[in-house]
Amino acid sequence: MKDKFISLIKTSKKISVITGAGISAESGVPTFRGENGLWRSYRPEDLATPEAFTRDPKLVWEWYNWRRELISNCTPNSAHLFISYLESLIPEFLLITQNVDGLHKRGGSRNIIEIHGSIWDIKCSKCLYLSENRDLPIIYPPLCPQCQNILRPGVVWFGESLDYRKLEESVNFIATSDLLIVIGTSGIVQPVASLPFQGKQINKKLKIIEINPTSTPITNISDLFIKEPSAKFLSDLKIFS
Ligand code: OAD
Repeated sequence: MKDKFISLIKTSKKISVITGAGISAESGVPTFRGENGLWRSYRPEDLATPEAFTRDPKLVWEWYNWRRELISNCTPNSAHLFISYLESLIPEFLLITQNVDGLHKRGGSRNIIEIHGSIWDIKCSKCLYLSENRDLPIIYPPLCPQCQNILRPGVVWFGESLDYRKLEESVNFIATSDLLIVIGTSGIVQPVASLPFQGKQINKKLKIIEINPTSTPITNISDLFIKEPSAKFLSDLKIFS
């Protein structure tokens, strides 16, 4: 397993990585689905939609303040660190993460698309104002310095479109890669869930490695499926020594 993983990396000049909540699980950040997933205890439609924010912005901010506090106590794990190490070795490299926790950046990743935004950004619910903000907690109600309307978390909610330029860049990069590594995503939330399929359809030579303790729709098109927690598998993996 490790040998095949290393050999696929060593024979690749251009690598893309897609990550989801599972990569941060061993850092202590709860995933959304699965046994202890957030969506077991909370309803996305109450907390992670534009309608929920319009209905009860205070409740939504309480939930995001709770998550910001939780994440601020977590640190990047071996899987985050492995990805930034890989970036330093591979000249053509792109990480696409669905995670809003910022742990990849803290782990040293630079060539990264945070396709669902960042929990450490705040943006105006009316104008284009967007800014980083690390206050713990954010005092309610946070108001836009430009137009005085209420600020919201800088994340993408259900029912909202992703930035099409980021999506296009992701598709193009994946489709021209030699290898795509998919880590810790349930592979069911669109449009990111389709990226591995689109990549393989456009580029038949694209190899896919998936790391996840549970199989997903992406497992079917993977050339190598590593059925393990990602930090456990990737810790101490010395690929170029
Ligand atoms: P999910 O919570 O849906 O899925 C987490 C995945 O991680 C599952 O497939 C688990 O099997 C796997 N997993 C759990 N522990 C792991 C570990 N230690 N190592 C590797 N994998 C592990 O999270 P996402 O697929 O990221 O969107 O969810 C996608 C989007 O749905 C999120 O970005 C969020 C959510 O609702 C929005 O909020 C818009």
